[in-house]
Amino acid sequence: MSVERTQVGIVGAGPAGLLLAHLLRLSGIESIVLENRTREEIETTVRAGLLEQGTVDLLREVGVGERLDREAFFHGGIYLRFLGRTHRIDMKSLTGRGVALYPQQEVVTDLVKARLAGGGEIVFSVSDVEVRNQPGERASLSFRQGDTKRTIACDFIAGCDGSHGVSRHSLPAGTLARHDRVYPFAWFGILAEAAPSSDELIYARHERGFALVTTRSRTLQRMYFQCDPSENPEAWSDESIWAELRARLATADGWAPIEGRITQKVVVPMRSLVFEPMQHGNLFLAGDAAHVVPPTGAKGLNLAVADVRVLARGLARFYKSADRSELDRYSQVCLDRVWKAQRFSWWFTTLMHRSDAETPFDDKRQLAELDYLVRSRAAMTSFAENYAGLPFD
Ligand code: FAD
Ligand code: DHB
Repeated sequence: MSVERTQVGIVGAGPAGLLLAHLLRLSGIESIVLENRTREEIETTVRAGLLEQGTVDLLREVGVGERLDREAFFHGGIYLRFLGRTHRIDMKSLTGRGVALYPQQEVVTDLVKARLAGGGEIVFSVSDVEVRNQPGERASLSFRQGDTKRTIACDFIAGCDGSHGVSRHSLPAGTLARHDRVYPFAWFGILAEAAPSSDELIYARHERGFALVTTRSRTLQRMYFQCDPSENPEAWSDESIWAELRARLATADGWAPIEGRITQKVVVPMRSLVFEPMQHGNLFLAGDAAHVVPPTGAKGLNLAVADVRVLARGLARFYKSADRSELDRYSQVCLDRVWKAQRFSWWFTTLMHRSDAETPFDDKRQLAELDYLVRSRAAMTSFAENYAGLPFD
């Protein structure tokens, strides 16, 4: 069996792996992307929807923002709803920054298209991926493609294979520290065929628990409500879901969501998780392979983008001037942003959700904090800076 070779072997064709491959190509660096699902699967899996300002700017800068600019919704603020009242945080006027609503599977679709149009390789439906990165040995990726077994020698490997991937497990035992937090609740997510219920996202804190109104297009809406992690989505009828959303989103002036046929029901678990360091030898972990955030605040996809931006820059410098210094700082630079996003996601989660362990003290504290947040310009500015995304260095 002949051993092929490439400069950077990338495991996983999610947003992290695909964007990394694209950024590397722009710097003239060769890579191969291995993905264990089909092209159709990765282009249709519904996950995140919210892009920070910096993510949007980067996608535009590197030539994959054209459809995003045509189809995304651009929001300059969000609504916070509690005690039946709605308050707006005007991010644009406070920080000059906003967010875009553009589904993750569309980002993936645009990146696959760009990759294939540029003649790059994505090997879909691979199995048995093995990552080798022993000290003193050439890094390599082995995998099965149909009946063929291939091995690719790589200068570097990027583990972009998400939270259930294999890359992280190829590190020697004891190399990674794991920091995590599990929450006693999850999100029940739906997609509904309806017109948008609101011009901007609504984050609602209610005695029955958290609810979120977000959007995917003019005809497809995404809504979430806090549920038990063991909830069975199929046990909920459309009518019982709408009744729950109406209750949690109710306002003193009679607001109600626009209802429609529900086409998807999922339960999304919530946890905070960081593995550090995010590198070992010539292997670099990026995105969910290295860290997971609870969805409140929508940082997961945006952190994946931020990681590969740093990694691509370090690799470009290495190939241009044999200078490894940026690569050596990769983990440190990424973790600085990761921990700030972890802090924000944890804080926003605990501010908006209810738990059985809560006492009346917690309840009053949450409401006092929400009231402070919507009345203090300083607090709103801090929120907006984090929500629309901290600037890149
Ligand atoms: P992924 O998107 O997970 O991509 C990893 C890729 O690697 C996948 O395509 C996978 O098939 C592939 N892979 C895995 N193992 C292997 C292997 N052994 N060999 C080859 N390929 C492999 N974030 C938000 O910000 N907002 C949200 O609303 C939101 N909702 C979510 C809902 C769900 C159900 C889930 C699971 C996540 C959600 N997230 C959300 C998180 C967000 O989608 C992730 O942070 C984002 O996908 C991270 O991108 P990634 O490229 O690092 O990983
Ligand atoms: C979405 C998800 C989030 O977690 C969030 O905070 C905002 C929007 C979404 O799926 O659109």
